[in-house]
Amino acid sequence: MSNHGFYRPKYHFSASYGWLNDPNGLLYHNGTWHLYFQHNPHDTVWGPMHWGHAVSSDLLHWKELPIALYPHDGIYMFSGSMVCDGSGREDAQEASDGDAKKELFAAFYTSHREEGHLESQSVAFSHDKGVSFTEYAHNPVIETPSDPADPSGKTILSDFRDPKVFRNPDTGLWNMVVAAKYRCYFYTSKDLLHWEKTGEFAHGYASVTNVWACTDLIPFDTPKGRRWVLLASMENKEDQPEPRTMYFVGDFDGRSFTPEEHTKEPLWLDFGWDNYAGVSFNGLEGRDPVMIGWAVNPRYANQIPTSDEGFRGTMTFARRMFLAETSRGLRLKLRPVGLKDAWDAAKKAPASLEAPLSSPSLIHVSGKEGTVRIQNDKGEEFRIRVSGNEISIDRSRSGLKDFHPDFGTELFSCRTAERIVPLTEKEEANQDPASAENDIDMTLILDGCLLEIYADDGLETASVCLFPEEPYTTVKAEGGLSISAVTL
Ligand code: FRU
Repeated sequence: MSNHGFYRPKYHFSASYGWLNDPNGLLYHNGTWHLYFQHNPHDTVWGPMHWGHAVSSDLLHWKELPIALYPHDGIYMFSGSMVCDGSGREDAQEASDGDAKKELFAAFYTSHREEGHLESQSVAFSHDKGVSFTEYAHNPVIETPSDPADPSGKTILSDFRDPKVFRNPDTGLWNMVVAAKYRCYFYTSKDLLHWEKTGEFAHGYASVTNVWACTDLIPFDTPKGRRWVLLASMENKEDQPEPRTMYFVGDFDGRSFTPEEHTKEPLWLDFGWDNYAGVSFNGLEGRDPVMIGWAVNPRYANQIPTSDEGFRGTMTFARRMFLAETSRGLRLKLRPVGLKDAWDAAKKAPASLEAPLSSPSLIHVSGKEGTVRIQNDKGEEFRIRVSGNEISIDRSRSGLKDFHPDFGTELFSCRTAERIVPLTEKEEANQDPASAENDIDMTLILDGCLLEIYADDGLETASVCLFPEEPYTTVKAEGGLSISAVTL
């Protein structure tokens, strides 16, 4: 069953040793991208949660730094966020370094007591640009609230986690959005220490019964003015719907969120299986937001067959986010950061029906309809089919799948996404995705055990884990499609 060490990706971040899950504390500061992450450095399975730390100048090459937060006294350091701004903080004002305000990193995390599943929100500060942290002496800054399901107020909310703190560009105040069982809560603060609850949001979809996790609120400038995207991941439980990340587009007035559209199903961030707990970077004020997700589905993350290589869990590529007007309304559009040269080179390279493939590679797919097959000499293949206004993916024969009972099931093997049409002047006249003007323009990136798909300029994206027994060696196109590939 074991592979020969080709699952570890080159550009997607994975911990040098051990387990990794959610991205935490994403912060851009002075030219450096900081990625903290849920980490068990002692084993390749989930365990006592630390915050690992890595930095990059281009979001493709990462350097791992010492662990930033350690579990202690039965408390695990669960997911959260990072801001850099000491304004109003006593210890920043007292510091002799005149730049202290600009350099004060504040990590917001959930203090999770494993015994009794007690969760509250805490903060730790760093005076050395995010390398080492001291926990605030008066933690938690937000105590565990009571569960609204119990009118007596005596039951404590058992799932209250993953604080995302950000400076609100409209009000100048700090905001926090935090998952609170079947909804999220909003808070505001002037000093990062005293928080006032201002609102709640729940979606009301009967089909989505999971507890929430890893919420984020992200401002966008659109032709219609400011809009906010609320991201929320759905926690994993064996008897619950598949964990995925949903999003809502709406308005946030600094206190509460109002969605502007009521869709039949939630909007999904990704049509693959393996993009979870994604959140955006702080520190990008005025620029397009950038996000990273955990590129493994929590359903089988503890079992994926990568532990022989000393790691379990990788991140998605960093993706720049846009909110585009489409024929269905405002929809997220995602593009990987830092790959423009390879992206353009693959587009310009001569197209063919078959090309040799090695990892990492970037493949451009064009044409009308047909099938792309990514194959190895063992006959294993991953398939993408473009037909009419649909894109279907199929990993049922792509490689190992018995490591978890769900991985090989239909739900986790085959999926179809409807293509979305961007609404530009030209396309207003032509909203049929299957028409010649809307030929598919799709980029695939294979890097170790991960394949990312970006179609229709990032209006449809999919992240897919694949575990072939031998490396894939060929990519083929059939029907009306053609391909061109470049090595990354
Ligand atoms: C989501 C999650 C978070 C939590 C963390 C623990 O994957 O369950 O809600 O903070 O992972 O590792």
